[in-house]
Amino acid sequence: KPILFSGIQPSGSLTLGNYLGALKNWVALQDEYRGIYSVVDLHAITVRQDPAKFRQQIIRTYAILLACGIDPQKSLLFIQSQVPAHAELSWLLSCYTQFGELSRMTQFKDKSARHADNVNAGLFTYPVLMAADILLYQADVVPVGADQKQHLELSRDIAARFNGLYGDTFTVPEPYIPKIGARVMSLQEPTRKMSKSDENVNAYVAILDKPEDILRKFKRAVTDSEAQVRYAEGKDGINNLMGIYSAVTGKDYGAIEAEFDGKGYGDFKTAVGEAVVEELRPVRERFDQLMADKAYLEDCWKEGAKQASYLAERTLLKVQKRIGFVKR
Ligand code: TYM
Repeated sequence: KPILFSGIQPSGSLTLGNYLGALKNWVALQDEYRGIYSVVDLHAITVRQDPAKFRQQIIRTYAILLACGIDPQKSLLFIQSQVPAHAELSWLLSCYTQFGELSRMTQFKDKSARHADNVNAGLFTYPVLMAADILLYQADVVPVGADQKQHLELSRDIAARFNGLYGDTFTVPEPYIPKIGARVMSLQEPTRKMSKSDENVNAYVAILDKPEDILRKFKRAVTDSEAQVRYAEGKDGINNLMGIYSAVTGKDYGAIEAEFDGKGYGDFKTAVGEAVVEELRPVRERFDQLMADKAYLEDCWKEGAKQASYLAERTLLKVQKRIGFVKR
């Protein structure tokens, strides 16, 4: 089977954007691919984390992935910091990545502007660690939301460059970006991406939000004054709600327009909210069960780290040899 790798940061509460842009596809693709999924905690420390909360957040994120349907019998699910090869390959690859390339990363430009008080070196080299994650497992495809596209292109460039210098070492990965759900927007400012770091909690739906909170957030979602459910330029709020509804129900835009023909936005928002509630209900229930069974969770991540380390170590040894390090 072709290999699939993807990762998610354990920072804050995961959102409906994470779910529709990434997690739902991770689950759907785990039969067709050898799925390898990681809670990328090393990436999360580019911003300050409170140790106790951070530890809890890593565990919760791991449990959410299981709750969404990642099956440890089929797929590998591990915590990044438990596989030392990631940090190691990241250093090696950083010597094959140019300062100029990293300076052009829009996410770095964004984040360094917004957090000017802590523009650390890790924030800058973040995409190299991401390349290491992917390349260690010789991944063929990487399912991500649209915001990660540029990082993925850099991973491809780094892989191709290394292969060019030393001969075939890495599989050059292909991005897999879903047609619908790749960019879930804020419910309050629909020209901005839905983000868990938004100060306004009404702007995002968290995967673990209670049903009444989900319904309320959709009822308050910003729309427009046309009062017609149709997908069109300039109707950012409605377009976003249609995208969410489509991603959850599988209905296309034409069918959605027909369904709400002659109905008001109120009905539409309620329908979207209810569809999302039903989609996330089993995830939340399963999450509660998993969090009550720490021993099972711990077994899972230990086994995951063991299997991931075995695969990662193989690639790392190959790379070290290619570069010319002396064998241990
Ligand atoms: P992260 O943790 O920010 O997000 C995890 C995944 O969710 C997607 N996503 C969205 N999709 C649609 N709409 C949104 N509003 C939305 N917000 C987030 C992201 O595109 C991502 O797929 N750098 C990565 C984590 C990472 C990674 C990797 C991914 C580290 N190493 C290797 C793939 C392969 C990140 O910060 O994702």
